[in-house]
Amino acid sequence: MISINTYNAISQSGLSLIEDDLNYHLNGNGDPDGILVRSKNLHDYSFPASVKAIARAGAGVNNIPIDHCTEKGIVVFNTPGANANAVKELVLANLIASSRNLYSAVGWTNTLKGTEEDVPSVVEAKKKEFVGSEIKGKKLGVVGLGAIGVLVANDALALGMDVVAYDPFISVDAAWRLSQDVKRAHHIEEVWAECDFVTLHIPLTDKTASFVSEEGFTKMKKGMTILNFSRGELVEEGALEKALEAGIVRKYVTDFPNEKVLNMKNVVPVPHLGASTVESEENCAIMATKQLKTYLETGNIKHAVNLPDVELPYSGKMRVTVMHQNIPNMVSQIANVLSGYAVNIADMINRSKHTWAYTMIDLDQKLLEEEQQQVKSRMKEIHGVVSVRLI
Ligand SMILES: NC(=O)c1ccc[n+]([C@@H]2O[C@H](COP(=O)([O-])OP(=O)(O)OC[C@H]3O[C@@H](n4cnc5c(N)ncnc54)[C@H](O)[C@@H]3O)[C@@H](O)[C@H]2O)c1
Repeated sequence: MISINTYNAISQSGLSLIEDDLNYHLNGNGDPDGILVRSKNLHDYSFPASVKAIARAGAGVNNIPIDHCTEKGIVVFNTPGANANAVKELVLANLIASSRNLYSAVGWTNTLKGTEEDVPSVVEAKKKEFVGSEIKGKKLGVVGLGAIGVLVANDALALGMDVVAYDPFISVDAAWRLSQDVKRAHHIEEVWAECDFVTLHIPLTDKTASFVSEEGFTKMKKGMTILNFSRGELVEEGALEKALEAGIVRKYVTDFPNEKVLNMKNVVPVPHLGASTVESEENCAIMATKQLKTYLETGNIKHAVNLPDVELPYSGKMRVTVMHQNIPNMVSQIANVLSGYAVNIADMINRSKHTWAYTMIDLDQKLLEEEQQQVKSRMKEIHGVVSVRLI
């Protein structure tokens, strides 16, 4: 029986994958094999030796002590991209809403509530002030072609936009998913100079903070709309204020309003709704649960934050998985332990991420129970090994 404990309310769509599986036990005891979590702070949590993996239903992992977990041989998963569709839909909605002055128009119409006047006539007289423009035929710049950026770029093409994208670090997976009609910008300056709209889909890091700065604003096509559904700090606020005042930026749509930005002219403040959909929470819970179950059942790793993706088809005979430091001679020492037994290595994979690595070895037959214990303890004695499993 595999035991999983949950913290926080995990969407039922994810929990059902455990509850409906007879091999699993949910919230049954204090020695779980896996933990499913959302926002609970685990920094002061004392992890029982039984814990092999933690899956966070969400993208950020600030609530999990990653280094401590790695040293204890615990794999930590998150769910990148599970909320990508939710963010994409809100970006597309705001492309159109900002272009058609929808929020200010609807806001004004609501002020007519309770009026004695003939509302249809007042509306007809006022509507010319809200004349907008269509997005079809306009140029959209997509900065960052990850899970969200690719979806936005492809769907903006379908809405008739001309799409140019900038991502010098695009992954092979993302490149496969991107429509070939999206044009490639080799320099960010091309995006600033040509686009009517720019949407940001890059992570906030030391390198990307103030990605849109005074220098960028000076190169922008006048009247551009910027959509920021990534992180507020990507845009330098002082320079933004000047660009809005000068009309260089026609509108700044942000999912991250603060006191300063809220008081600027032509800002469309969205109250951080990017991932706030029922489906997004469900997707995160399903993805986290599946990743956790796959790891516990097969040792395969997908979307861990402390280890690389490592996958081999699982034959069901006998698999040895070893989590270890990324130092020389590990694979030979691990394989050497197996040389004393009458088994052949059928397949093997080793991958590393920074200072940590993971090795999986598939054997052509099952070891006896006693042999399994010997292999486990001998491999654990190898300097740099933090966890060994035989599945
Ligand atoms: N508004 C919300 O509620 C919400 C929800 C989810 C994610 N987000 C934000 O959206 C961001 C993007 O999410 P994602 O899932 O698409 O991430 P992702 O990791 O899949 O993609 C990020 C992309 O940005 C690219 N990139 C990194 N640095 C770059 C640079 N300097 N120039 C151009 N491209 C660069 C990377 O190569 C990658 O392709 C997240 O980092 C997060 O901050 C916001």
